[in-house]
Amino acid sequence: MSNHPAAMPHGPIEEIADGVFWVQGSIQLAPGMRLSRNMVIVRSGNDLTVASPVRLSEDGETELEKLGSVRHAVKLGVFHGVDDAYYLERFGATYWALPDGARPQDPTPQQVLRPDSLPIPDAELFEYQDSKEKEGALLIRRAGGILISCDAVQNWPDTKGCSLPAKLAAHLIGFRRRRAQIGPPWLKKMTPDGGSLKADFERLAKLDFAHLIGAHGAPLRDTAREDLQATIEATF
Ligand SMILES: [Fe+2]
Repeated sequence: MSNHPAAMPHGPIEEIADGVFWVQGSIQLAPGMRLSRNMVIVRSGNDLTVASPVRLSEDGETELEKLGSVRHAVKLGVFHGVDDAYYLERFGATYWALPDGARPQDPTPQQVLRPDSLPIPDAELFEYQDSKEKEGALLIRRAGGILISCDAVQNWPDTKGCSLPAKLAAHLIGFRRRRAQIGPPWLKKMTPDGGSLKADFERLAKLDFAHLIGAHGAPLRDTAREDLQATIEATF
């Protein structure tokens, strides 16, 4: 096994609905600054697709393998990817990313995420068109629609999984201003000079979903689409 980053503390694998699961892990951004970080697992038959991979403990991997076989790893956002190579090596997963969606430090994608080519049969791809760097989302057509986001839209009902300094930072950064929050640092980094990502988010809010899970925070159930519409009103 190559020298991959070790597993960080994480919670249990929990089902959001209909074979879509999430697990809250974490990432050490700086000394003392440990931020929650989520992986989403989608089961299709016996195949598992992991989105925004997070390395789990040995016990966590045992639980993961009880759900099925990890066949696909999906990179949705440019800033996540520290555990992607681990999943390819440990599980032999196929690596998917948007066109030009992987960074030099990421593995080379084996498959390109396109509207007509996705690892999950009942999924729909959303790609931000105006962002400075690549980011996408997956809509799983189950349980009224489950939107899997990376950094662009997050939901922080609490600051579980964060160290104390990171809890304070999450408040200060504005992650907890409202449900279905557009990540303020992400928005700043990704908005072109003199441009706006409003049209992208309006397009996103037209998709048919009831639930949302982002790469930080926790799932938002039932009202996710309305909450995102309110966020767009408040943000732009
Ligand atoms: Fe992130």
